Amino acid sequence: MNFYELSDKVFKYSFGNPINTEAVVTKGEKVKNEALRYFNIDDTEGMRFTYKMTKEQVVWGLGENLKGMNKRGGIYDSFCSDDPRHTPDKKSLYGAHNFLVVDGKETFGVFIDYPGKVIFDIGFSEESSLIIAIEEKDVEVYIITGEKPLEIVREFLSIIGEGYAPPKWAFGYQQSRWSYPNEESVREVAKKFIENNIPCDAIYLDIDYMERFKDFTIDQKAFPEFKTFAKEMKDKGFRLIPIIDAGVKIEKDYDIYEEGLENNYFCQDEEGKAFMAAVWPGRCHFPDFLNPQVRTWFGLKYKVLTDLGIEGFWNDMNEPALFYTERGLKEAVSLAKVSENENLDIYSFFKLKDSFNNMSNSLEDYKSFYHNINGDKINHYKVHNLYGYNMTRAAGEGLNLIDSSKRFLLLSRASYIGMHRYGGIWTGDNHSWWEHLLLNIKMMPSLNMCGFLYIGADTGGFGGDTNHELITRWTQFSIFTPLFRNHAAMGTRKQEPFSFEEETIKNLRNTLELRYALIPYIYSEYMKSLKNKDMYFKPLSFEYTDDFSKRVENQLLLGASLMITPIYEENSLGRYVYLPEDMVLWKVKNYQERIYEILKGGHHYIDVGLNEVPIFLRKDKAFILGKHSKNVDSLNNEELKVIAFVENETTYVYYDDDGTTKDYKTGTHEEVIINIKKCGEDDFAIEIKNKGNTKVRVLNLEIIDTNGRVHKKILSVET
Ligand code: NOJ
Repeated sequence: MNFYELSDKVFKYSFGNPINTEAVVTKGEKVKNEALRYFNIDDTEGMRFTYKMTKEQVVWGLGENLKGMNKRGGIYDSFCSDDPRHTPDKKSLYGAHNFLVVDGKETFGVFIDYPGKVIFDIGFSEESSLIIAIEEKDVEVYIITGEKPLEIVREFLSIIGEGYAPPKWAFGYQQSRWSYPNEESVREVAKKFIENNIPCDAIYLDIDYMERFKDFTIDQKAFPEFKTFAKEMKDKGFRLIPIIDAGVKIEKDYDIYEEGLENNYFCQDEEGKAFMAAVWPGRCHFPDFLNPQVRTWFGLKYKVLTDLGIEGFWNDMNEPALFYTERGLKEAVSLAKVSENENLDIYSFFKLKDSFNNMSNSLEDYKSFYHNINGDKINHYKVHNLYGYNMTRAAGEGLNLIDSSKRFLLLSRASYIGMHRYGGIWTGDNHSWWEHLLLNIKMMPSLNMCGFLYIGADTGGFGGDTNHELITRWTQFSIFTPLFRNHAAMGTRKQEPFSFEEETIKNLRNTLELRYALIPYIYSEYMKSLKNKDMYFKPLSFEYTDDFSKRVENQLLLGASLMITPIYEENSLGRYVYLPEDMVLWKVKNYQERIYEILKGGHHYIDVGLNEVPIFLRKDKAFILGKHSKNVDSLNNEELKVIAFVENETTYVYYDDDGTTKDYKTGTHEEVIINIKKCGEDDFAIEIKNKGNTKVRVLNLEIIDTNGRVHKKILSVET
């Protein structure tokens, strides 16, 4: 074992001969050996790390996952999985995010940098044991010390590198469906947004825009003039976001297939032939994204679409999803050759049934192909969790070569820690279930802990049919997530905001208008989280130290100043909320109307009508509110509201930048720093500092004092 110190708080223990995942960007100093802190090691079979938990310890983390924010009581397989039914008994979703914080009298963080399957048994098999198991002996374990979870997370964020910043328009509302299959259907959707006066920034193109599901092709019948059409849509205010799939169709004369084959760019089977499995187009090969040459080749293919005016992409099926291989199909078909007169007993019947059920994404298939990593032939199973990460890395690096100054929207379904530097993620095929709205809420801070900031779920649910209430409540939550997209599966009920009855359309319009009015705050908080290695969504106890806050899983802190308490239960016209301190409640029906109420710290039941979004403003904090518009490009934020709850003093740093280039990376941005200090009963001293070239001209202040009185002031911003 080799021991490295990355800082006085972060330690790396390197066992055997680990694969470099490039999740961590900080290199450490090698120093003399030290035994692994906190864990006992059993290396009789693979590696098994055990930590004894005390009853009071909470375990945070694991990114995109099932169950609660506190992961205790669960067993989780870190293995990127294409499984569209996220029921509570499942152990894996699409991401592999192996970072945990154990929080209690003893507090520390642990990151298992291992690209194959990792089992996290967190008090499941044995109540008080945290057991982390891998099948091999080559692994890097990072231990992060610190007093508080947030401090530990921030150390972790600082070793995995700065995350991805999408363009500002990607903070607008995005509409998707599997599918809007042709120009006419996309035009119709855009028209309905315009007619209904509902803001929207992007419309997604699912697999049907392609010619026979081939990446980087366009179905000429469905989109005969794609470039002109993309421009027409952009002129109307909508960007188009096409999907790209991991599998490359096997088809003679298809350039991606031919080039990939000729250059040995595809993963290979046991015999050294390009590995074959079926996905949407039927038989496919799979680019070996773990090879840098392949990444450059595939990444530059995005140019086919950027040349047509495309500015954003979603990378799908990159676990990779395998519908079937020849082997799986052969096995199933041979079992299926039973006559209808067969008298199948329980065993043979289930064997027959399972051979079809288990045909997709089988471990046997994942174990049957190879990557070329620096000339070494590495079995896919060992590095499975790096595939989606590196597909998105290929795209991110390619887009950077195509236009190094431009920010593109980029999403991935599968991911590993480190991918946050290249793109965001949507949380895959959830369902129109209330349980999945709650799961969505709980997943957000866990993902932030692992570096992923540009995140969101399919609002309204992907599988199954939503109803007016679920779409409303889910939208009321999603207005706070950086990625805000409504997406639904083929065959499900229409789910666009204008597809419901008048009252629901009105509620959704008001909710979306609130999102656009909040974009100055949301963008400011997002970019500050990115730059300052911080979380955008936090569990309450990452800021409040009382014992109860640790148990709250259905409320989130959002950025520096707000707390959100979404409604996630059907037929409820309110909910219990917990306030760790006195806060201001603004129940938003329409963001232009603002009635504030002060609620004392403690437990409350609040009524929340279907037309209301509850927002809590913390004490001695402030936030920014702009005005809505039809899309982000047309927002005018020269005049902003500053809404503050002041007992003593508050400072809000409002961050902004051009939203389109990467100049923010070299420090080019604007800041307006607003300081409000209470000096007497009705007297507040206000100081405004303008750093950079802000476009803000006027600030309308609404200062709420501890008696609930609102003091209004209008100030101009000196340039
Ligand atoms: C699976 C993705 O998760 C989903 O969002 C998409 O609509 C389908 N693939 C079809 O492309």
